[in-house]
Amino acid sequence: MALLIRGGRIVTATDDYTADIYCRDETITRIERGIDPKGLPPGTDVVDAAGKYVFPGFIDPHVHIYLPFMGTFAADDYESASKAALAGGTTTLIEMICPGPADEPVAAFELWRSKAEPLAAVDYTFHMSVVRFEDAVRGQFRDIVRAGVASFKVFLAYKGALNLSDEHLFAAMKLAKELGVIVTAHCENADAIDALQRALLAAGKTGPEWHGPSRPPAVEADGVHHLCTFAELLGTHVYIVHTSCDAAVREALAARYRGVNVWIESVIPHFLLDESYAARREFEGAKYVMSPPLRAKTNQGVLWNGVKARAISTIATDHAPFRFHGQKDMGKDAFTKIPNGIPSIQERVDLVHTYGVTAGRLGLQAMVDACSTQAARLFGLYPRKGAIQVGSDADLVVYDPAFRGTFAQECSYSKVDYNAYEGWERQGRASVVTVRGEVQVKDGEFVGTIGRGEFLQREPTH
Ligand code: URP
Ligand code: ZN
Ligand code: ZN
Repeated sequence: MALLIRGGRIVTATDDYTADIYCRDETITRIERGIDPKGLPPGTDVVDAAGKYVFPGFIDPHVHIYLPFMGTFAADDYESASKAALAGGTTTLIEMICPGPADEPVAAFELWRSKAEPLAAVDYTFHMSVVRFEDAVRGQFRDIVRAGVASFKVFLAYKGALNLSDEHLFAAMKLAKELGVIVTAHCENADAIDALQRALLAAGKTGPEWHGPSRPPAVEADGVHHLCTFAELLGTHVYIVHTSCDAAVREALAARYRGVNVWIESVIPHFLLDESYAARREFEGAKYVMSPPLRAKTNQGVLWNGVKARAISTIATDHAPFRFHGQKDMGKDAFTKIPNGIPSIQERVDLVHTYGVTAGRLGLQAMVDACSTQAARLFGLYPRKGAIQVGSDADLVVYDPAFRGTFAQECSYSKVDYNAYEGWERQGRASVVTVRGEVQVKDGEFVGTIGRGEFLQREPTH
């Protein structure tokens, strides 16, 4: 397998230059100007990238594909999620393994792997959720780390379902420190949410517009503060997922200034959608119910500027796909029963390009850093992923910035029956996407091989 990408503008988190990239088998083997195709092996695939950007394959460090949650299952499988991810330029996914509190951790790890292996067309790895941590299961987390999953996930939210007691949270973070794995964390105070939800429902406030008021910014900021306190006491490295608002960002940065090793993720819905979407009439707002909730618009500038200043490390999706009909409508009578999530796996990069880069909020290099390189660095994948270097995997995105279109559900590979960005203007498209040297997407269409994706074993790096 040989591939030559000619004349593209190579943009990484640190560089911006024009050259040709030659890939042999699965890796990048030459980066030079003017590589002569005549000197290459017969059958070399040649891609003309003149006038286009060439980015390292994008990484989404926070997705849900197989997800039993809130009485239902997320709608995608690895086939639909891979196709959607690849069509949007994302070549590596990090999925959350989210077992129930009664499940055995190793069995959950094996179950999640078995869902991915036959159907993945992207490369993938996992964050292992710790939803129980009594003595009897602790050893299993060591085994899972040994098997190549070098990050944990903890929930401070979802009382009675996924959240950990403080005793178990502290112990899990202690083990993470000992093993050198980073702890990713959903930070919202579960008890405060529970009390607020009960009060709202008791007052007859049952619609999706009340989801936001049940988890205001202070609830999230409190969660961040709490996690960072434990991290400060233990020295554990932590990564706050889907940080949605100024108050939570400030808590994380304050902890960082105190010396806590804390990194911040924000997710694309929070950059672009505000609380008014969840208040849409005729239950339409349910499409926009996620946690933490969509916030007041003023928070969006904080997130964009945070990425620009590299205070926020990553832009992920938190892709959690639930259909409007048959799933979101489980919460018709109570917003607490609307499955949480706003799917964006296919749209993320194009949204960042359109509303971040072309709108002048971000530079191209900051976009690559936040959508690819930082995730690779933080989660032990760099420079195999997240880079365009000799020796890196040939995961490449030839990106056409001149493409014009609109976001639409009918163009989406996800099995969800709506698109949160329906009809929005779109500038740019991945015209060729490769995974380890094989073309998986042409002109926005999946042309690849289901099942070709590999599980990426990772070493602890923290
Ligand atoms: O609303 C969300 N975020 N749904 C998925 C589960 C989670 O909290 O990440
Ligand atoms: Zn979460
Ligand atoms: Zn999530």
